Amino acid sequence: MPNMHVISQTEQAIDDIARNGYAIIEQFLPAEIISSLADEARGFQSSGLMRKAVTGKSQDSSSDSLRGDFIHWLGNPNSPAQHTYQTAMYELSAVLNRSLYLGLFEFETHFAIYPAGKGYAKHLDQLKGSQERQVSTILYLSQNWQSTDGGELRLYLDEETHQDISPHSGKLVVFLSDRFWHEVLPANRERISLTGWFRKRGSRLP
Ligand code: OGA
Ligand code: MN
Repeated sequence: MPNMHVISQTEQAIDDIARNGYAIIEQFLPAEIISSLADEARGFQSSGLMRKAVTGKSQDSSSDSLRGDFIHWLGNPNSPAQHTYQTAMYELSAVLNRSLYLGLFEFETHFAIYPAGKGYAKHLDQLKGSQERQVSTILYLSQNWQSTDGGELRLYLDEETHQDISPHSGKLVVFLSDRFWHEVLPANRERISLTGWFRKRGSRLP
């Protein structure tokens, strides 16, 4: 359950999304939940359950230069930390629906691990011709991230301007999926996150 602090930072985020299309919440979940989630991601990695991510453009290994992360999709929560995360995201979607009338319905989410030196080239999360993904979310999980570690999310605000967002642990970035081109800059250390998308009811194409 969110406390008053979480509710008020959520309200600030709603305001930011309404005004600018995106929001950054610095400490979305308690540090111990973040570190449990990071441990789980590393656990999936060491049990061989993280899979090389592919882009819509290319399924072969040459896509490595476009996207270098390994992912693991979450199903129903199967740990207390995952339950806390999924509950918080569900509550966020309820507030987005109430405040911005987004009609969000489903949430899909995966762990992502970028090895040092790997990134994700500039892209849009909404696949061409599909309005399935309405809102993108990224929760950063790497402990003690230093600004010199790199690995920023570069969010293109328009043709000329971008904002670089450092992936400090506990930070949640939320943005409208159809609005922002973005990329992941390579880091000099492993970078761990949970990426998610809220989908709209009935938006899945046949
Ligand atoms: C993605 C993505 C950004 C990030 O997974 O589609 O753009 O900062 N991730 O991890
Ligand atoms: Mn993306």
